[in-house]
Amino acid sequence: MSDLMNIGVLASGRGSNFQSIIDNIEAGHIKAVISVLITDNPDAYAIERCRKHNIESLVLKPGDFPDRNRYYSGVADELVKRGVGLVVLAGFMRVVGKALIDIFPNRIMNIHPALLPSFPGLHGQKQAVDYGVKLAGCTVHFVDEGVDTGPIIIQAAVPAYHDDTEDSLSERILRKEHLVFPYAIRLFTENRIKVNGRKVIVDGNREDQSMINPPGIK
Ligand code: GAR
Repeated sequence: MSDLMNIGVLASGRGSNFQSIIDNIEAGHIKAVISVLITDNPDAYAIERCRKHNIESLVLKPGDFPDRNRYYSGVADELVKRGVGLVVLAGFMRVVGKALIDIFPNRIMNIHPALLPSFPGLHGQKQAVDYGVKLAGCTVHFVDEGVDTGPIIIQAAVPAYHDDTEDSLSERILRKEHLVFPYAIRLFTENRIKVNGRKVIVDGNREDQSMINPPGIK
């Protein structure tokens, strides 16, 4: 038996964040094992990534369960069975149910492509473009029962330009996602994160907890 933390990943689609986590584990930056990928989408490219990296994948579709509650307790069962200590939502496009949250309190992390609490829910990047913000970014947070409302672990900011499209902004944000998500997971696996109400306290360098890159005045 290894004493590495078991991570369970939930993803619905292409899984580029999933890949960044795999890469960081394989490079030795995160001392953990991905025990299983659970997806609600049989066509998710994330499944292909599992094949390439010898990771177990499971398709669990809500439609195959009698109701939402039983779906999430089914997901929780699979994670518990594998001794999962951290659940990572890497582009999982559903609001997680109480049945799963209750089993993993402050042990489910999500990445959201906006600077929360602005622009929660779907299409965070499009919401930011439409609003005309000058600063956009991404947030890694613990999952509670609300929609993107849980305690914030780390955020990274990028500039937003007047001629940005949803795609151009998404791409800029995604590059930061691939940095901050593995970083937050690493902090967790090193037991350096504590939660006090809404506040997440990270043991370590302050500057590392917020990644802001304003262009500055030249
Ligand atoms: C990412 O941009 C992630 O932040 C977002 O979906 C994308 C998944 O990309 N998640 C959400 O919007 C969750 N509400 P990926 O499959 O390539 O990681």
